[in-house]
Amino acid sequence: MITATQQLTDEEFAAFRDLIYREAGISLSPAKRTLVASRLAKRLRQLNMDSYAEYYEFVVREGNRSDEHQQMINCITTNKTEFFREPHHFDYLRQRLIPQMAANPVRRTLRIWSAGCSTGEEPYTIAITVLEALGVSHDWDVRILASDIDTEVLAKAEAGMYPLESLETLSESIKRKYFLRGSGSLNGMCRVRPEVQRMIDFRRINLIEDSWPLRTTFDMVFCRNVLIYFDRPTQERLVQRFSDRLNPEGHLFLGHSENVAWLATHLAALGNTIYRLRPGARGTPKPTAVMMSSLADVPRKLPPSAPAVVRMERPVTAGEVYVTNKPAVIHARIDRGVSACVYDPEAGVGGMNHILLPGGSSQDPTQFGVPAMERLVAETVRIGGNRSRLRAKLVGAPELESHSAEARDTGRQIAEFIRQWMTEARIPIEGERLGGKQPLDVRFFPQTGRVRLEPATMPDQAAPNQD
Ligand SMILES: C[S@@+](CC[C@H](N)C(=O)[O-])C[C@H]1O[C@@H](n2cnc3c(N)ncnc32)[C@H](O)[C@@H]1O
Repeated sequence: MITATQQLTDEEFAAFRDLIYREAGISLSPAKRTLVASRLAKRLRQLNMDSYAEYYEFVVREGNRSDEHQQMINCITTNKTEFFREPHHFDYLRQRLIPQMAANPVRRTLRIWSAGCSTGEEPYTIAITVLEALGVSHDWDVRILASDIDTEVLAKAEAGMYPLESLETLSESIKRKYFLRGSGSLNGMCRVRPEVQRMIDFRRINLIEDSWPLRTTFDMVFCRNVLIYFDRPTQERLVQRFSDRLNPEGHLFLGHSENVAWLATHLAALGNTIYRLRPGARGTPKPTAVMMSSLADVPRKLPPSAPAVVRMERPVTAGEVYVTNKPAVIHARIDRGVSACVYDPEAGVGGMNHILLPGGSSQDPTQFGVPAMERLVAETVRIGGNRSRLRAKLVGAPELESHSAEARDTGRQIAEFIRQWMTEARIPIEGERLGGKQPLDVRFFPQTGRVRLEPATMPDQAAPNQD
């Protein structure tokens, strides 16, 4: 049985150190030998093992996708965190950043990533700060992604249950507004209110993995007190990748000791380890092909004899997004690409986009897809839709004889991108009509959500599909 930490030999420490570096990017100096020994000792005791060598062999034998690798990582990570840790970041968010964003009358979406969220205090603090800045009855579409490599802390984060002492530094008003006090068996505990929890999606993401399973870009990334565990090349790569995930003028928040002023080329240091993506720097470029308008913005003359309810037909061409709260028909002729239709059946509002990738299947669909989806949803909400009621339909990606294999692939890729985006946005897809051998005339009735499809090149043929 393991009792003393000195039983971890230099060779064993080196073997674990290399494994942990490969798996989690965590860089352990020789000074961390005692720490590693004591953290692994806990796991050895659970498994009733006598030596570190035996445990090492067990971990390696289990393979790198096994639960034991995860258990080992869970033992090794340092998870210290607290509510409103480094409070100047949240002051900046509430007093400067969100009011600046809110000054833009069209902008109503907010995407934030807490990367390395530990037991959840950070993403909950972000959510509370957003609510304090926007007001609890705001009409914004706010989503916070909270991720960590450690599944144990992630489960605690998702549960949102904390000892009352962890709220000690919070004002009475914040406690009352955003927490519920436990009673009975939960005496001495508090729980984050469900409306705050609902703003957050929790996911296991290993930051050093080559590709992150994400289909969105962010206005803010908080990766605080995580980079300190990585070596300089890993830090550089991560800061670069976070920058690529930021929307134009997006912000990166790091921990107090994680100064990356050496990355001055694409991040402007604002002080207090807050960085803003420089204009034209390496973040995801804003596509120029996406234009947006809404019927309310476009003056239309009706014939003098027009009846009270007139369905105006509004074409949406590739790259456009169009939403309306009027009795209109939105029309797209699709011979490649995909249109997403979104509507709120109760409010009778909705819209459609038409996504194409000018660069073909080699182009990342997020570049044009994310703004096209975000604008579609944000505008639908802005003109009266309720986000939680939104429904979607997908149409397009025809595979014409004349299409190259690449063009067919592109259509499928866009469709897959939209599906994943909708899943992350929790908007149910009610129907799909994808593929087929003909270009389509799509007519979407946003008031009811009905889609009418006709083959575009054979106007005499009967409609193949209606729903
Ligand atoms: C000290 S906590 C920071 C928590 C919070 N961000 C804060 O500042 O209060 C560091 C977190 O980074 C996580 N972490 C370490 N390596 C990681 C990796 N490769 N990918 C994702 N998260 C990682 C750990 O599990 C831990 O929960």
